[in-house]
Amino acid sequence: MSNKKGVYIHIPFCQTICSYCDFCKVFYNERWVKNYLIRLKEEIDDIYMNEEIDTIYIGGGTPSALRVKYLEQLFLIIKMFNTTNLKEFTFECNINDISKELLEILKRNGVNRLSIGIQSFNSEKLKYMGREHTFDMAREKINLCRKIGFSNINIDFIYGFSCEDVKIMKKDLKKILKLKPDHISTYSLIVEDNTLLQINNYKRADDELDAEMYEEICHILKKKNFNHYEISNFALKGKESKHNLRYWKNQEYYGFGLSASGYIDKIRYTNTLSLTKYLNGNFSSKKEILSMRDIMDNHVMLGLRLINGINMEEFYKIFNVKIDDVYPIKPLLKNNDLILKKGNIFINPDKLYIMNEILLKMI
Ligand SMILES: C[S@@+](CC[C@H](N)C(=O)[O-])C[C@H]1O[C@@H](n2cnc3c(N)ncnc32)[C@H](O)[C@@H]1O
Ligand code: SF4
Repeated sequence: MSNKKGVYIHIPFCQTICSYCDFCKVFYNERWVKNYLIRLKEEIDDIYMNEEIDTIYIGGGTPSALRVKYLEQLFLIIKMFNTTNLKEFTFECNINDISKELLEILKRNGVNRLSIGIQSFNSEKLKYMGREHTFDMAREKINLCRKIGFSNINIDFIYGFSCEDVKIMKKDLKKILKLKPDHISTYSLIVEDNTLLQINNYKRADDELDAEMYEEICHILKKKNFNHYEISNFALKGKESKHNLRYWKNQEYYGFGLSASGYIDKIRYTNTLSLTKYLNGNFSSKKEILSMRDIMDNHVMLGLRLINGINMEEFYKIFNVKIDDVYPIKPLLKNNDLILKKGNIFINPDKLYIMNEILLKMI
């Protein structure tokens, strides 16, 4: 197995807070940003062992919310990594933040993939989300990204609002497709605890409608030549996210910044969710040394999120045991929950919607 690693860096600042979001984030605050970047550098200095890094993902929060001066500082910090063989460098942007100046900085610093939060163009959905943008504005900004040389663009899309039916969802997705993204991450709305949606007792679309919308999304994107490679992710040929594939293939990565998690040397760790603690230099919150069985379970649970599933030979090479000697593969194949094809075990595409139930039966 390759000993190259990935890096995730969390930037927890947002200019506005969306009604549905329970990611670890705070309102943008100049003083906090300044101190955060000082601590981030310290954390990387403490932990990073100079291994080769082949994927970097800057996520949030909203990394694109940083002012130019802080973006330049962030990229100076990133120079600490050994990136001679860097394959993919993703930067998350909020569509409202995109400007020529931002894109030029990203380009100059080696970013080669943008992940853009658009979520929807439906005015009612946007109202519930607490987000504001128009299709014309988004089109102009995506054109600018292309002009400046970004040829790998992901767009995030959320569906499952109670004001939404299949027809509305299809119209919304069609507009996203008009922007010609290379990759689409689709998210079925979750009403998370302690979000504004939950406080307002918001009811999402029911499960049956949700399943119908998911099926329709898969159908539409397949027709548009998107490869459905992970339960919620679709990519044009060759544009699958290399960094996210690292997670699903249970490969190693560092996580730096508030709330970030990482998986290095059989240890899974999560950083503190408290900005105060982080700014005081207390980075780590949870560390778990994994047993071989834990690693195997993770390999199976994450691998089955992939549409191509798990390669049996690869599993044997990693763990020196056959996958069907450890997990109840045979009964699950028999009742068509799983499918075995060309040495790969994967979830029956007609049952992706009940993936969690199947995983429970597996583990
Ligand atoms: C960290 S945010 C991405 C970028 C940027 N902060 C933005 O919103 O423009 C990651 C993505 O997770 C999705 N997401 C967040 N909370 C969600 C929820 N409660 N239900 C469904 N999707 C959610 C959204 O699509 C969001 O773009
Ligand atoms: S969805 Fe993105 S912009 Fe909205 S609050 Fe969450 S991280 Fe911030």
